[in-house]
Amino acid sequence: MSDFIPVNEPLLDGNEKKYLAECIETGWISSEGPFVKRFEQEFAARMGRKHGIAVCNGTAALDAAVDALDIGPGDEVILPAFTIISCINQIVRSGAIPVLVDSDPITWNMDVNQIESRITPRTRAIMVVHIFGLPVDMDPVLELVDRYGLKLIEDAAEMIGQTCRGSPCGSFGDLSTFSFYPNKHVTTGEGGMVLTDDDQLAETCRGLRNLCFQPHKRFVHERLGWNLRMTNLQAALGVAQLERLDESVAKKRAIGARYTELLKDVPGVQLPLAKTDYAVNIYWVFGVVLNEEVPFDAEEAMRRLTKAGVGTRPFFWPMHEQPVLQRMGLFENERHPGAERMARRGFYLPSGVGLSDGQITKSAEACKAIFSGVTDTSIQ
Ligand SMILES: Cc1ncc(COP(=O)(O)O)c(C=O)c1O
Repeated sequence: MSDFIPVNEPLLDGNEKKYLAECIETGWISSEGPFVKRFEQEFAARMGRKHGIAVCNGTAALDAAVDALDIGPGDEVILPAFTIISCINQIVRSGAIPVLVDSDPITWNMDVNQIESRITPRTRAIMVVHIFGLPVDMDPVLELVDRYGLKLIEDAAEMIGQTCRGSPCGSFGDLSTFSFYPNKHVTTGEGGMVLTDDDQLAETCRGLRNLCFQPHKRFVHERLGWNLRMTNLQAALGVAQLERLDESVAKKRAIGARYTELLKDVPGVQLPLAKTDYAVNIYWVFGVVLNEEVPFDAEEAMRRLTKAGVGTRPFFWPMHEQPVLQRMGLFENERHPGAERMARRGFYLPSGVGLSDGQITKSAEACKAIFSGVTDTSIQ
């Protein structure tokens, strides 16, 4: 099992150790330490934004973004059906209504052509989620946001270092959010960030992150917040990781190109789209979707790959098929066939920035072996 290829391995061979040692030597380990501000400023600058508010994870960043916009009962928020549960948590908890858009079967992102039909007089915001390395085409979304006077939340967790028509992902939302979990291009172990150009929204997010303590009457509260603070230790990692972002993105693109080369002629599997007219894939993960001619589903494919020593992960499960949300009476009889198909037929291969060429070849060879006999309907 020792040469099992993990689905993700981070690369921590820059200044991570040095900056962490600095935290320990100076005693600055809490959220008050200097790396937090430095990480916020350097990350925001890299994405072309005025404010960065570092938080403890990407889910918390989304919670703060939804709450900062005062989204609540009576409001509707449009978001993709195919995404992580983090996107919908605070929308539902606040009493607002999540409104889902199905996936485009080629880009795997929310189908921007379906958004307008989901807008009603109650729509307050669109939450865009860029999926797996290729961003959502922002031009049509920005046009709708402008025309209907909506707020835009941009979840760019999977898109650190990506651009859309030349502008950084994370530069588009009234509030844009990131995650720094170890499978992201910049990792802090656990961590997240909210970016904005709006001074008032930035102040609100800073308050929400820190229990809404008030500057003058610390323990008197006008609003309920959370403790979402990032520590100096995490931010130290983030500063070091950000220094290597261009290299990490180049590495991910090389991994994607190599997998594509090795798998392009394998029957029955759909590979990630390499580019569109607005972006070139950065392959946050290298996903595959099984075509209808493959007589088994993603779960079975992953089981076989695990047996061959290759780590995998399933795709997201759609929001309208989440038992917890269905029990709340949401999405009754809703169908989103694109998202449903991806959930059942999609999974991803080892994609970490630390992956070696030998590991890519081994993973691709294992894939080929599994799909070479797709006409054989026997499932062992
Ligand atoms: C699109 C997206 N949003 C949000 C998150 C949640 O981030 P975290 O795991 O840091 O809470 C993830 C996590 O992978 C994600 O992929």
